[in-house]
Amino acid sequence: MNVAVIIPTYNEVENLAWIVGRVRASVPEASVLVVDDGSPDGTGELADELAESDPFVHVLHRTVKEGLGAAYRAGMRLALADGHDVIVEMDADGSHRPEQLPDLLAALDRADVVIGSRWVPGGGVVDWPLSRRLISLAGSAYSRSALGIHVRDMTGGYRVFTAAALERIDLDAVLSQGYCFQIDMLRHAHSEGLRITEVPITFAERERGDSKMSLGIVVEAMLRVTGWAVTSIPRRLRPNKRTVVPAPVTVVAPSMEPGDARVVR
Ligand code: GDD
Ligand code: MN
Repeated sequence: MNVAVIIPTYNEVENLAWIVGRVRASVPEASVLVVDDGSPDGTGELADELAESDPFVHVLHRTVKEGLGAAYRAGMRLALADGHDVIVEMDADGSHRPEQLPDLLAALDRADVVIGSRWVPGGGVVDWPLSRRLISLAGSAYSRSALGIHVRDMTGGYRVFTAAALERIDLDAVLSQGYCFQIDMLRHAHSEGLRITEVPITFAERERGDSKMSLGIVVEAMLRVTGWAVTSIPRRLRPNKRTVVPAPVTVVAPSMEPGDARVVR
């Protein structure tokens, strides 16, 4: 497998070297593509230094902070053009443990899209305040029922796509700017009939730097999801013969590690 791990960054100078090192140690054959939006804290320069000392590390510099969605779209286009056949999404702050990436990659034997999931048995979050848990659970519940996609963790940002799956998704039609990008990608994957599976992960809150979560990100997601749900009503009432029948979403059985007692469900 020719794997590319895309890591979007905005002001992650305290986290980047650590996360890149852990990815390289966990899956040594994988390349890393850092997509930095001109971070004022020097993350982009640090990424260049890492790339100079390791041929498996690459950097895409963008001049303007346009949100997670735009950064991922640019990174995905580059990874596809470079001929990678598996593409991974991962946060820079350590919340997505690179040590769990082999479990996610292993699930490609039964899926085209693998979601590292906090909200299936065996998954969980560590050190997240109640407010963030509620936003995540409510956002997943609302988008799941509004869009009819049976995924527990609709907004999770630790994912694996086969290149063939990504090529089926029209990235130009994925317009979301913020974390809603994750829901938008699932919507397209589902309507293309791609096989989606959830693998339990432990999401640990960042220890360094700040989250970029904002009210605007939540509002964008609520408005877009509601809009998609409303515009899909006629199609749902009168499905035509060309409608792709979505593949069922599956969950990989949890593989709890010994001593993993901090997992909170
Ligand atoms: N290039 C770029 N541009 N990177 C960005 C931007 C941006 O505008 N906004 C955020 N990022 C990067 C961060 O630097 C980090 O590496 C990653 O995207 C996730 O951002 P966080 O700010 O750490 O997200 P979070 O921990 O609050 O949110 C997590 O949960 C969300 C909801 O479930 C993430 O896993 C999200 O992906 C997820 O949607
Ligand atoms: Mn984070």
